[in-house]
Amino acid sequence: MSTQNRTNIPNSLNEHWMPFSDNKSFKKNPRLITDAKGVYLTNHEGKKMIDGSSGLFCNPLGHGRREITEAVSKQLDKLDFCQPFNQGFGGSFELATRIAKKTPGDLNKIFYTICGSTAVETAIKIAIAYHKAKGHGHRFRFVGRERGYHGMNIGAMTVGGMVNNVKAFASILMPGVQHMRHTHLPEHKFVKGQPETGVEMAEDLERLATNFGGENIAACIVEPIAGSTGTLIPPKGYLKRLREICDKHGILLIFDEVITGWGRTGSAFGAIEYGVTPDIMTMAKATTNGVVPMGVVAVKDGIYDAVTDASSGPEGAPELFHGYTYSGIPVAVAAALAVQDIFDKEDIFKRAKELSPYFLDGLFSLKDISCITSIRGYGMMGGIDIKIKDKPGKAGFQTFKHCYDAGVNFKSTGDTLIIAPQFICEKKHIDEIIEKLRTGISNYAKS
Ligand SMILES: Cc1ncc(COP(=O)(O)O)c(C=O)c1O
Repeated sequence: MSTQNRTNIPNSLNEHWMPFSDNKSFKKNPRLITDAKGVYLTNHEGKKMIDGSSGLFCNPLGHGRREITEAVSKQLDKLDFCQPFNQGFGGSFELATRIAKKTPGDLNKIFYTICGSTAVETAIKIAIAYHKAKGHGHRFRFVGRERGYHGMNIGAMTVGGMVNNVKAFASILMPGVQHMRHTHLPEHKFVKGQPETGVEMAEDLERLATNFGGENIAACIVEPIAGSTGTLIPPKGYLKRLREICDKHGILLIFDEVITGWGRTGSAFGAIEYGVTPDIMTMAKATTNGVVPMGVVAVKDGIYDAVTDASSGPEGAPELFHGYTYSGIPVAVAAALAVQDIFDKEDIFKRAKELSPYFLDGLFSLKDISCITSIRGYGMMGGIDIKIKDKPGKAGFQTFKHCYDAGVNFKSTGDTLIIAPQFICEKKHIDEIIEKLRTGISNYAKS
């Protein structure tokens, strides 16, 4: 197939082993996207669909943003690549300064990675390096949370809490990882915003600190809102309590803001929205509006200082033996800088905050559909649970297919539909998403 024809149906679907996909059924009945503009996607049959999940929480600024395309193209013309070890280019420093201005507290040191998984892996390593630098090499344990998702590298997968992701790889998981229970309690069904109950779930961290020795735990990692398992919103006071327990035991608190970062909650970060500052914070996805892979780890000044001060190597020896060929490459930085410009120019987090009530009202208006067992939402993210049928996952995927036919595209995980509109949506676009969800979900319920 020539590059000109790349967006049409290819001659063969056999060779590409697709990620997180049912390859066999997809290849019998492919869903290929050929064009994306603003809030709309077009598939290979010429059908136009509204994007109900910003890709995978990636494109809050809409598809095909000219400013980003131009910035990337200009960068490619000027400096397409420079290797990032003991060498750099100005853009990555400029971007770090701009990101650090938006992160809360003294999360001012910025390490670039390739994606969300590598950002989490990096956060894990930085936590270990920090404790070693402080003379606490015995702190090797990590605490994650059930129904958390942090990516698919070994470390990120181990601290995550999605059972199917780890089952097949049980023999190679990272040692020393425990999980707190998730915070999604039965009484949180159809609760809009933060649940009033469930703060006591944070005491799981205290229990693990008692059982394993708080002095042996390097870090606790959570998503402020668990995104990939369907928008599980932290009970009021929960994140603050985690912070208190971490402080008591000298445990680092890592917020994985790969989804919640860059405005999804209505503030720049979940940390700001909930008024709890972690020690390390990860981001990816919307950092470049999804167009070029990039992950970011923001780290407190004191952690950076401890690690760099502890280094005793000769000139040129890295203080942290970690990095990626594609850490902060020019083309990703160019996209991210253009995204920062748009964030500032369009006051985009405020826009997300103002649109949120309208979106959440729309989402909760679907409550009457018989097969829906729960709806949750916060900011510009929501989850809809579909009643399990036969086997877990079947109902969610069938509903996704009916919604796709109805003209709204999104991601389903298990039996949960993940809804995360773009921040550039106007009210009419939210109406369209909700109307098409109603059609698709109702058609599934009737099927
Ligand atoms: C919270 C969170 N962390 C990490 C990741 C992994 O990101 P990536 O797929 O870019 O590696 C994801 C992906 O959805 C995520 O939602």
